[in-house]
Amino acid sequence: MNNLQKLFDLAKSVSANAYAPYSNFHVGAAILSDSQKFYCGCNVENVSFPVGTCAESGAIATMIAGGDKKIKEILIYASSKDLIFPCGACRQRIAEFSSKETLIHLADDSGIKQTLTIEELLPYSFKEF
Ligand code: THU
Repeated sequence: MNNLQKLFDLAKSVSANAYAPYSNFHVGAAILSDSQKFYCGCNVENVSFPVGTCAESGAIATMIAGGDKKIKEILIYASSKDLIFPCGACRQRIAEFSSKETLIHLADDSGIKQTLTIEELLPYSFKEF
């Protein structure tokens, strides 16, 4: 199985574990790190709505806990009729661990619909101080 297929399968299967009783919107994210390891996460909502976390956030936390710091590719999956794009906060989170070469794949049930760089998703981002 190739890396893209594995990323898709991982993100889709982890989305089934999303805890999303308030939005009923299940999202999965899967990362391939620069050390060729796979990580994934799903959204976890909370009755106190702002406390909920996105799938991208979970996947990144898992990658950091696993000892990696660079995203080679990330795939975000939701089974929705319109393709979903990461929220602003998650674009910043992805940017922190991306390079110019990082690929961000957006997928629905029929597969990957769009692939972008972080520069395209979050131009003019805050990088250093
Ligand atoms: N959500 C994600 O997990 N990732 C995204 O890229 C967009 C939105 C989640 C947050 C919330 O649990 C639900 O989707 C509805 O906004």
